[in-house]
Amino acid sequence: MNALPGRIDSLWRYKDFLPLDSSAISLGEGRTPLVPLTDTVSAKLDYLMPTLSFKDRGAVMLAELARRLGPDRVVADSTGNAGTSVAAYCARAGLPCTVYVPEGTSAKKTEQIRAHGARLVAVPGGREATALAARAAADEPGVFYASHVFNPYFLHGTKTYVYELWEDLGGRLPDALAVPVGNGTLLLGAALAVAELHALGLIETRPRLLAVQAEAVSPLAAAFHAGADDLLPATSAAPTLAEGIAIPRPPRARQILAAVRASGGTFLTVPEDGIREAQRDLAARGFYVETTGVACWAAVREGGEAVRGSVVVPLCGAGLKTGMAG
Ligand SMILES: Cc1ncc(COP(=O)(O)O)c(C=O)c1O
Repeated sequence: MNALPGRIDSLWRYKDFLPLDSSAISLGEGRTPLVPLTDTVSAKLDYLMPTLSFKDRGAVMLAELARRLGPDRVVADSTGNAGTSVAAYCARAGLPCTVYVPEGTSAKKTEQIRAHGARLVAVPGGREATALAARAAADEPGVFYASHVFNPYFLHGTKTYVYELWEDLGGRLPDALAVPVGNGTLLLGAALAVAELHALGLIETRPRLLAVQAEAVSPLAAAFHAGADDLLPATSAAPTLAEGIAIPRPPRARQILAAVRASGGTFLTVPEDGIREAQRDLAARGFYVETTGVACWAAVREGGEAVRGSVVVPLCGAGLKTGMAG
C-alpha cells in the first residue's frame, strides 16, 4: 500500500524524519516486501536490498554524510554485511574505503567487499580485535569512521524498517517485532521509530520487541534474564552459524536492554540446530536466507508465551552470502 503518494520509492520517502534530506548516492534502498509466513507471522524481506542485507538502510546514511564531509578515506569494521554495505556506497560516492572484518568471515561477504573496490583487512582474534583495529585506523587524520555501532546516523537509517511497516500495514504496527541482535542496530533503529511514531500520534500502542540472539553468543539475553541493566562481568562465546550477531560485548548494551524492557518485550535465544532447521524451512518455502538472517524465524517458529499476536520477522541477509548450513 502507498500511504504517502507522490513520494520517492525508497527509504528517502521518509526524508522529513531523517537527519539528511536526500542522498546523491542512493541505490534505491528500502521499501522491501512484507509477506505472510503463517496466519500471524509475516516476514519483511530485507535481504532484497541493494547489497543483500538490511545494513544498506544505515550505510547509505553514513556514506552520504561522509560524501558531504569529504574525508580522505572511510574506515568501517563489521562481521561482514555492514562492511559490504559501506563499501558499496563508498564506491558509489567515489570514496576510498577500508573494511576490517574478523578472520573467518564468510568468503562471499569478503568477496563482495573487495568487489566494491574496498581494501579488506581480516583481523585475527575475533570481533573485538577487529573493532580495536578499526578504531586505531579511525584516529588517523582525514579518516571518516563509518561505524554502524557508534554513529547515530546509522540508527536513523535502520529505523525506516519500522516506518515502512507502519505504511504497509495501513498506519499501524504489529503486536511484536522480532529483531536479531548483535550490536543492536536494527533493534535500536526500531525502538527509535516506535518512539517517534508514538510521539507524532501515529500509533497508539507500541509493539513488543522480541530480541533474538544465538544461544552460543547471548550476552544480552543473559543480562536481560538476570535482571541486569548492563552486560554481566563475564560473558562466554562459542562458535555460531549466526556470525552477524556473534558480538560478545556490544557497546550499546545498556540502551538495548532498556529498549527491550520499555517495550514489554523479551530476549529469545536460538540453538545452532534451530538455525539450521529454520534456514531449511525458509528455503523450502522459497526464501533463500543467510544463517544470521534466519535467527528470528528460528526463534518465532518455536512459539512460546512471548510469541503472541501479530509478529513481523526480518529476513535480513541473502542466502548467497553464506550458503546453506546443512
Ligand atoms: C544478516 C544480519 N542480521 C542481523 C545482524 C545484526 O545486526 P546488529 O549487529 O546491528 O544487531 C547482522 C549484522 O551484521 C546481519 O548481517
